[in-house]
Amino acid sequence: MIFSLLLILGGVLSLEELRLGFMAPQGDPEYTQYEGAALIAIQELQPQFTQLNYEIKMVNVSSDLDAVIAAIEMKDLNVSGVVGPAYTGDSSVSCLIFGSYKVPSVSFYATGTELSDSGKYPYFNRVMPDDLLQVRAILALAKHLGWERISCVHTNEDYGIGGANILVREANNNAVTVNTIQSVDPIDGDVVPSDEAYDRVFNNLEAAKARVIVAYAIFPNDCTNLWTHAKRRGFLGEGFTWIVTDGCAELTNGNNEDFKGVLAVFPNYGLGGEKLKALENQIVNSNVYNADGNSYFKGASFSYDATYSLLLSFLKVINGGLNIWDTKNILDTLRSNEFEGVTGKVGFDAETGDRLYGVFSLLNLINITKGSFDKIGEINPQTWEVNISTPITFLGDTHHVPSDYEVVEYSIVLNAVLGAITGVCVLFVLFICVVIVSQWRKFRYSSPLFCILIILGALLGYASIFVLLPSPTQNLCSSFPWLLGIGYVIMFGTLFTKTWRTWRLFANARKFKIIRISNKMMFTVVGSFVLLESVFMILWTTVDRPEVLAEPIYKSGQAQLQCSSDSMAWWFVFVFYKVFYVVIGVFLAFKTRDVVDSLNESKPITLSLYNLTFVMLIAIPLGFILRDYPTAVMVIEVVAILLSFTATVGLLFLPKVWKIVSGQQHSMDSHGSSDSMGRNSSARSYNGTTTDMKMESMGRKSGQAVSVSVSNTQQQQQTQQSQEPTYVSTNDPTLGIVYNGGESLPTSSIVRQQKSQNPLNV
Ligand SMILES: *[C@@H]1O[C@H](CO)[C@@H](O)[C@H](O)[C@H]1NC(C)=O
Repeated sequence: MIFSLLLILGGVLSLEELRLGFMAPQGDPEYTQYEGAALIAIQELQPQFTQLNYEIKMVNVSSDLDAVIAAIEMKDLNVSGVVGPAYTGDSSVSCLIFGSYKVPSVSFYATGTELSDSGKYPYFNRVMPDDLLQVRAILALAKHLGWERISCVHTNEDYGIGGANILVREANNNAVTVNTIQSVDPIDGDVVPSDEAYDRVFNNLEAAKARVIVAYAIFPNDCTNLWTHAKRRGFLGEGFTWIVTDGCAELTNGNNEDFKGVLAVFPNYGLGGEKLKALENQIVNSNVYNADGNSYFKGASFSYDATYSLLLSFLKVINGGLNIWDTKNILDTLRSNEFEGVTGKVGFDAETGDRLYGVFSLLNLINITKGSFDKIGEINPQTWEVNISTPITFLGDTHHVPSDYEVVEYSIVLNAVLGAITGVCVLFVLFICVVIVSQWRKFRYSSPLFCILIILGALLGYASIFVLLPSPTQNLCSSFPWLLGIGYVIMFGTLFTKTWRTWRLFANARKFKIIRISNKMMFTVVGSFVLLESVFMILWTTVDRPEVLAEPIYKSGQAQLQCSSDSMAWWFVFVFYKVFYVVIGVFLAFKTRDVVDSLNESKPITLSLYNLTFVMLIAIPLGFILRDYPTAVMVIEVVAILLSFTATVGLLFLPKVWKIVSGQQHSMDSHGSSDSMGRNSSARSYNGTTTDMKMESMGRKSGQAVSVSVSNTQQQQQTQQSQEPTYVSTNDPTLGIVYNGGESLPTSSIVRQQKSQNPLNV
């Protein structure tokens, strides 16, 4: 009787024991911190359990054992729930057994997606976001940095293999190419893979021209060893990017200057939060939990949250009056519960037990003294949002985002040759310029302004080639369209003014209107073109300034530095409104084709316009078709620019220059250098011949009248034949007004014709 009384009393006074299992590899350096975090969570909640007459007792089984034996041993300890097993490999075996014995488990570090199979693992839960989310975080980062090409190296075990598989699948779904997947065995104690094994990996990375490499490796040592070999093989330095997953993000011995700039993603473990500060202090400063004096292991945050989530559901079940010994109650409560943990908001998928609300930290190895990663941003894999708070330091200690391609340079030899050819063209134009300036009077058919503008346009065009040839910089990228555009519109505007004038003459021929082409007019027309061009270029340069980007080229895995704007539309507009100009110019030239035949200058102008059109029709489509062949596009651009500008200068001035240089010019020279100021006199003399004009313009239209004209002007024709035959044609309506506004009109010929044509007035 007394005995049973004592028993009842004891039952009231002593607390009922609730067992919580803890399962992690006890040989790992992180273990004491993981276990310590769990014990701290128990300590914090024990007072609430005491009030309900329960005591939490943690029982440990090492998962260093065979996973089946460890799981059975754990089950035999009559636990109400298990924190762990830590990793995917153990979980995938142990949790089969836990599932069949209805033991709820919350893993704090298993990321494998096969554990999401609720048929196989009905009692499995985790606070660590799974690999699918991690892979999405990596891909979100890649997209954010403009990468579409990645490679993968993984360790040859469950974590690495599983991660690499998901990486490939998700990359395919998101238009990112995984060029090669390489594997290497994990370091097992003192057993390190051979140099040959690493060489095989790097040979294949080299063949794939890998630049952005995702390392799905299980432990920091696997990564540091991989990087040591990467350094040896030239895969660690500027131009290369290594992104490691949570497996290596725990790195604490990254005190190697070469590693500075590697990136890692890691599930948010609470950095910056008050809860983590408190937990970290307790763990790092404890002699028991951190006997080795390590810095904080991020996994401890998850161990704490895993423990906390299980204990919270124990409490809820007891408080709710449900049977605490029915583990189904614990599982259901766990999955419907949400709380704010060290790692952020914690919740579980009702079906799979996977962690909800997983946000990833973007980590960067910046502080070599410290040797571990710093948080520089956050990635939300659900929304693909990337927030970078500190500029990323890439390998080679640069903030410049490296390309995902092997960047090749333009051929120096080719560009030197193109530069030399352009130089020859520049000399040619300068030579013509010198001849024009020194033999000014012999060019009386052209106004000085006309010559100067054409030469200026050509020189600007050539200058655009010289900014195209060196390795591109942002300034060179913006200068090219500026120089080419302004050079082009100056040259085109000048030609256009002349053609337009001829067209006005032609249209107004019967109205006896005098159309002058003055410097002012030339300036106005050319100035308008330049203004329009400048407005467009200012818009382009400010809104979407061309940047230097490594764009993929025809050789797979290679890219070449090229100038590119966000939108190709700028280039389209830049090119197509110039085509529009030329179309108008050619149209006018075509309309006045009968007129121009008789004019020394209009014919080359028309030819120049045709040449510009032809070059554009060939060069533009080729430029767009060959976009993957930047070298070919550059050669075509250079040739097109050289052809259009050089040919124009040549067509306009070369015949005269040739005459001067070869000494055939004196006959023209003999016509009145006295007329150099002949603009006004020409106008006057024209006014005096309006009737001639009328007759002639009619005569041009009717064959009969022409014959009259011819028969009546024998005397004149004879005179002409003894003179330079090129500049007068009696049956032309524009005779005499063509050079009306020119600075150096050959007035004498008009005056002479006036005399000779007198009989026509009869
Ligand atoms: C780098 O880490 C060391 C050791 O943890 C620390 O003392 C130092 O302040 C850090 N340097 C920077 C720039 O953060």
